[in-house]
Amino acid sequence: MSEKTLIILKPDCMKKNLAGTVLARFESAGLRIVACKMIRMTDALLREHYSHLVDKPFFGGLCDFMKECPVIVGVLQGENAIARVRELLGPTNSALAPAGTIRGDFGDKANITCNICHASDGAEAAAAEVARFFCENEIF
Ligand code: CMP
Repeated sequence: MSEKTLIILKPDCMKKNLAGTVLARFESAGLRIVACKMIRMTDALLREHYSHLVDKPFFGGLCDFMKECPVIVGVLQGENAIARVRELLGPTNSALAPAGTIRGDFGDKANITCNICHASDGAEAAAAEVARFFCENEIF
């Protein structure tokens, strides 16, 4: 089934000049970029996007990290895109991500927050996250 999923190339990805490399991993796997833009995260956006994490002790640090520099948000489309993008990324903790996954190859193994790229974790989240960052007329 063709699906859409949201990705965010995080500040560590941008600072390491890995945006093209990470997008190429997704494109090489057959996923299509159907929306893409660079934005600066705000506290309001982060409180909404990470609303399930606001009570976690790392929430403040996560927000500070996500505002360190502009990020790239995008929508990828393809067969089973939601699960496939998460497989290509590897687990949240880069220290546990196998070589060959994006986080295993590029994530910070000493800092779970710096894991290169966010991706929607299910169909409901994907629909909400795509709508959070993109208007209908920005998706092609
Ligand atoms: P992401 O996939 O964007 O979802 C939530 C983010 O919070 C996660 O990637 C990490 O960047 C960060 N995160 C998750 N767990 C922790 C943790 N235990 N400590 C610090 N940051 C975390």
